[in-house]
Amino acid sequence: MTRQQERFLQRYGPRALVTGASSGIGREIAVQLTDAGFDLVIVARRETLLRELAADLVGRHPIHVRVLPLDLALDEGLEELTAATAGTDIGLYVAAAGFGTSGPFLDAHLDQEREMLRLNCQAVLATSLVLGRRMADRGRGGIILMSSVVGFQGMPNAAHYAATKAYVQTLAEALHVELRPRGVDVLAAAPGPTHSGFAERADMRIGRALPARAVAHGTLAALGRPDRPRCRACSAGSSGTRWPRCPDAPASGSWAR
Ligand SMILES: NC(=O)c1ccc[n+]([C@@H]2O[C@H](COP(=O)([O-])OP(=O)(O)OC[C@H]3O[C@@H](n4cnc5c(N)ncnc54)[C@H](OP(=O)(O)O)[C@@H]3O)[C@@H](O)[C@H]2O)c1
Repeated sequence: MTRQQERFLQRYGPRALVTGASSGIGREIAVQLTDAGFDLVIVARRETLLRELAADLVGRHPIHVRVLPLDLALDEGLEELTAATAGTDIGLYVAAAGFGTSGPFLDAHLDQEREMLRLNCQAVLATSLVLGRRMADRGRGGIILMSSVVGFQGMPNAAHYAATKAYVQTLAEALHVELRPRGVDVLAAAPGPTHSGFAERADMRIGRALPARAVAHGTLAALGRPDRPRCRACSAGSSGTRWPRCPDAPASGSWAR
């Protein structure tokens, strides 16, 4: 473990909760957190994928991984998450569960859009409230909410998805200021196109995209940093003072302001 990872663990450890850990960005964040020595609680619907990931991680590190197969678009899923983590010391929360839709707004299926609203917004609201209160009470913690580059302006043919991400972005920006005096760092991570399971579920075609592990790296590197120097490789990152060098960066000169 590097000194940077040790400091990250001290500040946000000992345990992280990662939603959306069965695939893509959430999965990569889970992997990189266990490299830093975090115990994990991992959440998604696909239990088999979560259990395979957990087995792989505990096989590589002396850590504990708890699997919670839950549907966070359902009230019952959110209630179960709240109950199952009561009394568990979670210092870092990463809300990576989410999905998108695409196509003309007038062709949208209301049920699917409502499900996206519940997962991308309602679940983020509920979990941020519950876990944010617990972290504020312990006086230390970190919260990463997964927004998107499409959350900064209206996006024709992904109108409602972009609107859900604008919600997340705005919420996280305000919590970043509100929770800082309580010892809780909040980050709105707003990736651009990323290779993951996202495009298939959203029925979108993504051309040039970053690998999920680079986005995961940049996201973790940015947490708790007042200024955000950018990684030349993954462009979403930060300097290496809290987190090790980007796995996709060239050997030297990988950081720029
Ligand atoms: N990929 C991109 O280009 C991109 C760009 C910007 C932002 N983002 C955002 O990044 C986040 C992660 O997406 P990704 O790219 O990593 O996509 P992904 O590979 O499809 O991962 C999405 C994760 O969310 C979980 N999930 C979906 N529905 C769920 C539900 N009802 N309850 C619990 N978990 C659920 C999925 O697991 P299960 O299916 O097992 O439930 C999966 O683990 C999302 O919020 C997405 O909007 C993605």
